[in-house]
Amino acid sequence: MTSLTVLSEPITARDADWWRQATVYQIYPRSFADASGDGIGDLAGIVSRIPYLRELGVDAVWLSPFYPSALADGGYDVDDYRDVDPRIGTLEEFDEMVAALHGAGIRLVVDIVPNHSSDRHEWFRAALAAPKGSPERERYIFRDGKGENGELPPADWEAAFGGLAWEPVGDGQWYLHTFAPEQPDFNWDSREVRDDFLETLRFWSDRGVDGFRVDVANLLVKDLSEPLPSAAELRAFDEAAGEHPLASRDEVHEIYAEWRELFDRYDPPRTAVAEAWVPTARQRARFASPSSLGQAFSFDLLEADFDAAQFRDIIDDNLAESRASGASSTWVFSNHDVTRHATRYGLPPRAGSTTKQGTEWVAQGGPEEQLDRELGERRARAATMLQLALPGSAYLYQGEELGLHEVADIAPDERQDPAFFRGLNATKDGLGRDGCRVPLPWASDGPSFGFGPARPHLPQPEWFGASSVEAQAGDPSSTLSLYREALALRRELQSDETLEWLEEISAGDVLAFSRPNGWVSVTNFGSAPVDLPDGEVLLSSSPLEGGRLPGAATAWIRS
Ligand code: GLC
Repeated sequence: MTSLTVLSEPITARDADWWRQATVYQIYPRSFADASGDGIGDLAGIVSRIPYLRELGVDAVWLSPFYPSALADGGYDVDDYRDVDPRIGTLEEFDEMVAALHGAGIRLVVDIVPNHSSDRHEWFRAALAAPKGSPERERYIFRDGKGENGELPPADWEAAFGGLAWEPVGDGQWYLHTFAPEQPDFNWDSREVRDDFLETLRFWSDRGVDGFRVDVANLLVKDLSEPLPSAAELRAFDEAAGEHPLASRDEVHEIYAEWRELFDRYDPPRTAVAEAWVPTARQRARFASPSSLGQAFSFDLLEADFDAAQFRDIIDDNLAESRASGASSTWVFSNHDVTRHATRYGLPPRAGSTTKQGTEWVAQGGPEEQLDRELGERRARAATMLQLALPGSAYLYQGEELGLHEVADIAPDERQDPAFFRGLNATKDGLGRDGCRVPLPWASDGPSFGFGPARPHLPQPEWFGASSVEAQAGDPSSTLSLYREALALRRELQSDETLEWLEEISAGDVLAFSRPNGWVSVTNFGSAPVDLPDGEVLLSSSPLEGGRLPGAATAWIRS
């Protein structure tokens, strides 16, 4: 077992490749740590927990939106792209946070939300106040309604959270919102919109931000030529072929070429990672190319079952894809949009399902009474150790290092996610995304389990105490200790981005591969114990049984 010495140094080096194999920890700021005592996490709370992040051993933080927002969609409805929500902090505190993170050797990636603003953004207010055909309306997507007085929507398209994607403004015109009505879509054909985002990227880059996570990066460019297609016609377009009018259009890369040009003016160049749920690996690779954003999230493992064959194919495909694109691979199991992976892996397949488990529960919570909590946590630990041994960037979501499960028991009147309220819930029989956004438990007891002095903005369940940082920190068998040890070892062992499958062991339920420096990772996806190859066992996600690797476990060995 390794010691917990933290190797990080303050960031002074201009290492342009820092992101290629970074461990990036996602902070959902309103639910991380509340220093001000208003029930909402804040920047001062993050600063107070930098020692925790250092000890965990992450290379970078990805900060979800912290901008002024009415929180119609958890902050992804931005009022002002160049400011901080006063409930979360100030620009000055932001600068202090950057300095403190950098001082601790941790980079900062911020979320940027270019597809839509909030309906409180000054440009949208101006658009509403201005007449039809005005330059103010050109920055968004306004169309005349159908019917005698425009009382019918321009098209019957459905929004991503359910309901109609067009909203009337009272003068016969309607605006497009791909997500909630409070999130009007920008018109990316507008030069003004393009220039304003370049200004925003400069603003944060000049403040020392190291990179950007680009929200729904594949949706910005739309072909809205008349006549607009119907919802049924939309469904028939081939998005994989780049033919869909609203998603994954090739022209979007013209925007990112401009962004890249700006990023490369910095030393080191600013990085970017695309959130783009695109249908093909070829499309994803375009976002990841060095002339575009440079990296793109792969959600392939996140959507897979806990299954050796599925994992192997995904790993092979993703590594080949990054060799071709020049980016490094990305590996993700959890984020603020999906059911936590400890929970997904503990749920049975849905009735009539062809997959084993997991996939269908990604966005849907899942039935609490069918959850095998212990199995889910075991598998999640095994999957994470496998992830951390892979070449490329590992993206972790706050709380997964505590093995947290999704919080299913949140009363409807305490929920916040628009996906829960706007029909997505009704059609998909799910609970929305609040269950992975519940404020973190830092202490074993107390009214907010150490999150802050006030009642947290989402209710925490009783069982949070036993999963808290305090409860786990001193326990060598805890999930937190496992993450700390795994991340320290990863730093020590990682070198180039190669991986070699150990074919003589990788069979049936077992996946084994080696990395340079004699680093071998073996995962047993089955239930019966298996033999391990010779070598020193460095770490194991569950205790070995008589020297053998038990089911649902990963071990790292130095050969
Ligand atoms: C992205 C975000 C999600 C948000 C949506 C609209 O998918 O991750 O949280 O609701 O975009 O901005």
